[in-house]
Order: sequence, then structure tokens, then C-alpha cells
Amino acid sequence: MAQLRVLSSAAARRAAGLCVLEGRSLVGQALNAGAPIRVALRADSAGAPQDEELTNELGGSGVPVVRVGAGVLRQLSGGSRPVSWLAMAALPDEPGPEQAWGDFAVVCENIEDPGNLGTILRSARALGATDVVLTDVVTDVSSRRVLDASRGAVLATRVRRFSSPCAALRALHDAGFQVVVTSPRGRGIQALASVQGRRVALVVGNETDGVSADTEAAADLAVRIPMAGSVESLNVGVATGISLYELRTRMVLAMLTDRIRGTLGREISLTGRFVRELLDEAMRDAEGLSSAQVIALMVVAAERCTPLAELHGDLGVGPAELEELLAPLRDRGWLIVADEGRASAVTLKGEQALAALWPIQEQVEEEVCADLSPEERSTLTALLRRVQNNARQALDRRQGER
Ligand SMILES: C[S@@+](CC[C@H](N)C(=O)[O-])C[C@H]1O[C@@H](n2cnc3c(N)ncnc32)[C@H](O)[C@@H]1O
Repeated sequence: MAQLRVLSSAAARRAAGLCVLEGRSLVGQALNAGAPIRVALRADSAGAPQDEELTNELGGSGVPVVRVGAGVLRQLSGGSRPVSWLAMAALPDEPGPEQAWGDFAVVCENIEDPGNLGTILRSARALGATDVVLTDVVTDVSSRRVLDASRGAVLATRVRRFSSPCAALRALHDAGFQVVVTSPRGRGIQALASVQGRRVALVVGNETDGVSADTEAAADLAVRIPMAGSVESLNVGVATGISLYELRTRMVLAMLTDRIRGTLGREISLTGRFVRELLDEAMRDAEGLSSAQVIALMVVAAERCTPLAELHGDLGVGPAELEELLAPLRDRGWLIVADEGRASAVTLKGEQALAALWPIQEQVEEEVCADLSPEERSTLTALLRRVQNNARQALDRRQGER
């Protein structure tokens, strides 16, 4: 209990790595946020069902609950209001430079009002910012007002502290962040900001002075939230909530686009599409056939007699489409469909046609592999076969599970 009284100063809280939570709802919120609560004091007079509930929850988490007189609690809290609950919780360790960053950070440049700081911490946690950055060594995030306004979020947030805004921005840039400064006079409109698909750090500034000129000069972008009416600026807590939501959405969209662009499936399907289009052009010029028809002929010729069901899979087309595809080949006498329409085979005439068309296929292959060495070509073929096999097996497994 003596320690609780000592924790009234910011310096003592920082030295001990502890803070004081006041009131039932804050103690409950901190517990839900996973904060390490060391001990809780409950006033004798607190007898509501919610007090019992919290006592049980704390007990279930291994936190000792001590009952004391209401006067003792009031004295310990140092206030004039009656207090029903007090608890002592450990402050999260400030991460060192070696600890990895998340994707989205909020930088608070000299935010003075504890209510604003708490609001920013609460919004950061709710809207997916994983790191909150302080740009000085004095800002206190363990005061009662910050804890209250953050609803205990500060106890579950990674707060990084730097000696100056310049040091913070340097570390953020080194970690690959795009730094976006917000200001009522920012050059760009925030909703249109060209956020890239990489880490984003949002910088918000002091209540009176805003973001410093040095920080703005060192940032990658300076954006504004357009305002109607003759208002000089938004409250920093409100502006941070809007910016967090808007910039994070833009960042996720940009990352998504980049990630979709980089998927193997997209590469393979684009490659397939372009090669097929090229082959289509070449075959149409020569014989008025599509590449799918020539490939169908090749597949059947390679296997002598192919069940139609297998052809569906090889060509990736349905039964009606397959029928349409094979009809011109049958009409030319290149292909016969036998076994009551279940299997197909290439005729001698079809083999001769294939032999005549083969140089066109080779020419197209030469064109698409123009800058690949023979070794690269055979590696590519082997890798594609492995991907094909893996995909086929996974497909069989899934269909088997259904
Ligand atoms: C109260 S404002 C600071 C006002 C200060 N006189 C100025 O001109 O920058 C505090 C912070 O909230 C953010 N902010 C407020 N209004 C904004 C707006 N319209 N657009 C972008 N950021 C804004 C900025 O980060 C700003 O530094």
C-alpha cells in the first residue's frame, strides 16, 4: 500500500515500471487488455454484482484482491472523490531498437494534453497501429488521465520513445516506413495520398504548434483532412482517429494490390494467357485454328487414345466447350471420337497436320523463351511440372474431402 502512494509521481512510476488504476471500469478494462495487474484493492462498501464479477475475474487471473476501508482508498488515491477500486499494474517495457516494428505506427510529436494522448493510444490500438512513437523523453503515458482516456490501452500498446523527432524519423526510415505528416495546411488531401504498399508512420503534432517544420521537411508526404467552415484545425485526437482509419485503409489496399501482383498464381495465369494468345494468332494465320484446338490435338496424339474426361482436365474446359473445340478437328478428319463418345484418337491425317503445324508451335516457343538459356528452359519446364503436380494432388485431396 505504501508503494501505491509513492506512485503518484511520473518519475516514481517510470522508475518502478508500475502505474495505478483507479475505478472498477478501468481495472476491468486493463484486465481485459491483458495488462499484468499485481494487486487490486476493493472498498468494503463496493457490493454491487459488478464488483463481485470483477473480484472473480481478477481471482481467476491470479490477481490478489484485498478489501480495505473506503477511507483508506480515498487517501491512497490522493483525491477528494470516493474510490471503490484501486489496482497496481506493470507498465509494458519500452521496446529496444532490436525489437521488430509492425506495419503501421503513430508518431506523437510533443502531444501535451494527457486526454489527447490517451485518446490517440486508444484509437491506435482499436484501428490497428502496432507502434506508438514518442519523440521526447518527458511525455508521461502512465498518468491517471492518460490511463483513463486510453481505457487501459496504454498497458497493452508498444510505446517507443526517442530523444527527438529527428531520431524517431531516422529510425522509422531505416525500418522502411513511409512517413506521412498530418497538418491542416498539408499539401495533399489525405484521402488521395499516394500511400505505397509498405509500412506507414502517421505523424501528428502538438496541440498549439502542430508538427515542426523540421519533421515536415524530413517526411515523405504532408497531408491534410479538408475542413469546412472557418475552423483553424481539428482536435489532435479527432484528427488522429480520422487519419488512422483513412491511411491504414489506403495502406492495406496498396499492400493488397502489391501482394496480388506478386502471387505465383497470377504470374502463371498471365503467362498462360499471353502464350496462348500468341499461339492463337500464329495458328489462326496458318490454319484458322485456335491454340486450344492444336493443344487438344497434341494431347490426344501424345497419349494415342485419350478419355474425354481427361481432356476436360488437361484443357481446363467443360464438356460443352470441349465438344465445340473438337468439332472442327473431327470435321477435317483429324480426330475420331470413339467408344460411344467417351474417348478420342488422332487419325493419320491428323498426325500429318500436326507435323505440319509443329514448326509454328516451335517458332512461338522460341519467341517466348527468346532470352532464356537451354538450362533455364529445362529448369522452367521441370518447375512448372512440379507446380502442376502439386496443384493436381491438392485438387484431388480437396475434392476427396468434399
Ligand atoms: C490542433 S492541431 C495543431 C494546430 C496548429 N495550429 C497547426 O496549424 O498545425 C494538432 C494536430 O492535429 C492534426 N490535425 C488537426 N487538424 C488537421 C487537419 N485538418 N488535417 C490534418 N491534420 C490535422 C495535425 O497533426 C496537427 O499537428
